[in-house]
Amino acid sequence: MTDGKRQFRSARSYGRADRDGFIHRSWMKSEGLPGDVFDGRPVIGICNTWSELTPCNAHLREIAEFVKRGVWEAGGLPLEFPAMSLGETQMRPTAMLFRNLLAMEVEESIRGNPIDAVVLLGGCDKTTPGQLLGAASVDLPTMVVSSGPMLNGKFRGRDIGSGTDVWKLSEAVRAGEMKAQDFFAAESGMSRSPGTCMTMGSASTMASVAEAMGLALPDNATLPAVDSRRRVLAHETGRRIVALARGNVRLSQIATRQAFENAILVSAAIGGSTNTAIHLLALAGRLGVKLSLADFDRLSREVPLLVDLQPSGKYLMEDFHYAGGVAAVMKEIAPQLALDAPTVSGKTLGENIADAECYNRDVIRTRDAPVGQHAGLWVLHGNLAPSGAVIKPSAASPSLYRHKGRAVVFETIEELRARIDDPALDIDENCVLVLKGCGPKGYPGMAEVGNMPLPRKLLERGVHDMLRISDARMSGTAFGTVILHVTPESEAGGPLAIVQSGDEILFDGPARKLELLVSGEEIARRLEAWRASRPAPKYGRGYYKLYIDHVLQADRGCDLDFLVGASGAEVERESH
Ligand code: FES
Repeated sequence: MTDGKRQFRSARSYGRADRDGFIHRSWMKSEGLPGDVFDGRPVIGICNTWSELTPCNAHLREIAEFVKRGVWEAGGLPLEFPAMSLGETQMRPTAMLFRNLLAMEVEESIRGNPIDAVVLLGGCDKTTPGQLLGAASVDLPTMVVSSGPMLNGKFRGRDIGSGTDVWKLSEAVRAGEMKAQDFFAAESGMSRSPGTCMTMGSASTMASVAEAMGLALPDNATLPAVDSRRRVLAHETGRRIVALARGNVRLSQIATRQAFENAILVSAAIGGSTNTAIHLLALAGRLGVKLSLADFDRLSREVPLLVDLQPSGKYLMEDFHYAGGVAAVMKEIAPQLALDAPTVSGKTLGENIADAECYNRDVIRTRDAPVGQHAGLWVLHGNLAPSGAVIKPSAASPSLYRHKGRAVVFETIEELRARIDDPALDIDENCVLVLKGCGPKGYPGMAEVGNMPLPRKLLERGVHDMLRISDARMSGTAFGTVILHVTPESEAGGPLAIVQSGDEILFDGPARKLELLVSGEEIARRLEAWRASRPAPKYGRGYYKLYIDHVLQADRGCDLDFLVGASGAEVERESH
């Protein structure tokens, strides 16, 4: 029962001439599978996060059929299985709370089943990282096929971008510049095809990261979801995953330290989401790759922003694809990349991009004439963020890169929503908005609420940006001078917990500093009082409790502490 020379893991279930082999095969035959498909060929799991509750992934059943074509054609046995789907726009309190739950499900589904290699079908923000984390802890040959971006949004003669224009238009309504009925009229035009947000949100960034790391075939990140060539890519992935299974090319052999560095460089050049740092740190933790926030800051300095794409620029993912996509960006920053990194295509990264070209220099710029000099993430430290905080300079206002201001503090998201438009709120454009209680333990799940709305009275005066600080995340589609992921979070007793309205805060982006201008003694006194007044825990059972008790802080990727690392694919015992 071998395929060529190699005996696959699945042969331990399907290749047996005994009662257990009978059990494993017989029930599978109820699906209409002929007996000879259990002849020792590689079994390819297709892990599908399709769901009607995850609109960005709602076409993935069709995509799975194309992966299967390729697997059958190459002599494998494709078996599709579902995994928890995390719809970013549907799940409360935030899809991020469940990324690790998806990862656990994916890990155990792969390990527990007779699978030799796996194709991950995901797209919406947390599905790709959740699947990758789970797959990494098993470490079989693995490939990614992303949902692909939606077609560009259209509204009254112009392009509008997922998320980015929601934030822009809703602020225009609050500023009195747009009527509410016009705002709601944009709904249908914004989302007019299957696929993920067509801005450089977390979904587009993670799909680009998968391509840059060599875990997906070229063009995976940018081919529109409805483009026939995405079906071709899925078909070719089916062929390739069989070859990877035969060669036993495991995920950890592709996702090396080199691959992570390539991904960070590409993420910076394309204006990638701040969420990428969290997901890549968690993935590195699963694979035992040494990676820290400092790597993001260091590598971000090596490349400028090259892609003029929302939210850092003006174009959308369709434009990016037609301009040459991620491969054209990698060609532009090739001197910085590890071009000898292996990829799932069977070629090196350098070979993958050898023929890449840029077809629109307005969308993908050259290094000599970039969209902006500041790319990637700035990683800040100081007494307000002892373990770090991040800001995306390309989405911030240069006039606020250095700023000192008076804090206006909101203890909870509810307080922010209740007070932000209060005409009596004591605030001006030089103040610093501070939001607490939105980190991994505090929200829980570290929701995307860090891009706080500006006070209506300031919007009406034409103020369009202010310095904002929180332990939250923000959508990759969002923009503004927004300091995120303050670590440790307030709920874990970080100094953010004791900031009071009226305190002065100093932000110096170029010097990577974030300081609360309050004496060390006063901070210690306030923290002591804060600890003494802690309320009883709110969640006493279930996944919420498990998550809150075990989640790591943002600087370690918000993984659960007991999930760090890998357990491999081995399962010793039979089921009956
Ligand atoms: Fe799914 Fe943006 S909401 S990718």
